[in-house]
Amino acid sequence: MAPEPDPAPALDMPRGGPRAARWDRLFETDKEEYIDRPDSPAACRRALRGLDRFQRLTLGYRTCARLTAAAFGPAPEPRVLELGAGCGRLSYGILRRHPTALVTASDVNPRVVEALRAGPLGRHPRAGCAVLDATAIDAPADAYDVAVMAMSLHHLPPAGVAALLREGTRVARTLLLVDGWRHPLCLGAVPLMFLTGGPAQAHDGVISLRKVYGAAAVRALAGMCGAPVRVDTRFALPGYLVATATRAPHAPPAVAPAAAPAAGPSPARARRPRPRLRTRK
Ligand SMILES: C[S@@+](CC[C@H](N)C(=O)[O-])C[C@H]1O[C@@H](n2cnc3c(N)ncnc32)[C@H](O)[C@@H]1O
Repeated sequence: MAPEPDPAPALDMPRGGPRAARWDRLFETDKEEYIDRPDSPAACRRALRGLDRFQRLTLGYRTCARLTAAAFGPAPEPRVLELGAGCGRLSYGILRRHPTALVTASDVNPRVVEALRAGPLGRHPRAGCAVLDATAIDAPADAYDVAVMAMSLHHLPPAGVAALLREGTRVARTLLLVDGWRHPLCLGAVPLMFLTGGPAQAHDGVISLRKVYGAAAVRALAGMCGAPVRVDTRFALPGYLVATATRAPHAPPAVAPAAAPAAGPSPARARRPRPRLRTRK
């Protein structure tokens, strides 16, 4: 069976969606956050530490853990993949709240994953850590019940979001995306970001809020992603976009882009083993 088609590499989409207002297009920025700059590892670490404090203070991890649990439902041994895990506290929170959950915390940045392996997740018997690009996930189809990405969607360009929607729904039954809500009023959170993470986090916070995707953009990109993906979007307090993506029920079985498993029901799904990952060093 042929691999799923790639969306056009030059896929373009205003962050506010295909019909974004003029002010929204002007509000958008293409500046880079420290977190995305390989030349600034120290500023990246400061921004991640600041974001971690901000997330704890605003109960962001708790909200994301609750949304993840709602997505895996009553599965006896839920298999969870966190993409763009950063400091890994969401993965750790899921493991603590759900004593049978198996969690893989992943990030595209090898330094971030090194820090994850050196911390409590590296020693946890139900956790794994992996270097994974959310837009080309090195895992078999249907390996997870839920793939979750928190506060990271805006780091991807539109073609990357389309690839994530396709890849996330290939490797997991449900792809859960949580990010900031797109509205200039959310810039009101920047003073708190400055308090929790100093100039590095305030810098990344302002850029993030100007880059977050609107619900209309996520829905439009799902329609262009090259796979039959259905996405529901909603607002959650205090200011989150929550997008839940699944493959359409009538869709043909998902196929891994590189090494496609043999056709037919996935044995991984039938026996529900611990997900196996090829990790990049
Ligand atoms: C703003 S941090 C969010 C960290 C964490 N999820 C949280 O809620 O605090 C964004 C993370 O996404 C990661 N990231 C960026 N692009 C990625 C990609 N293509 N695949 C996987 N992770 C990515 C970055 O390395 C960074 O750790």
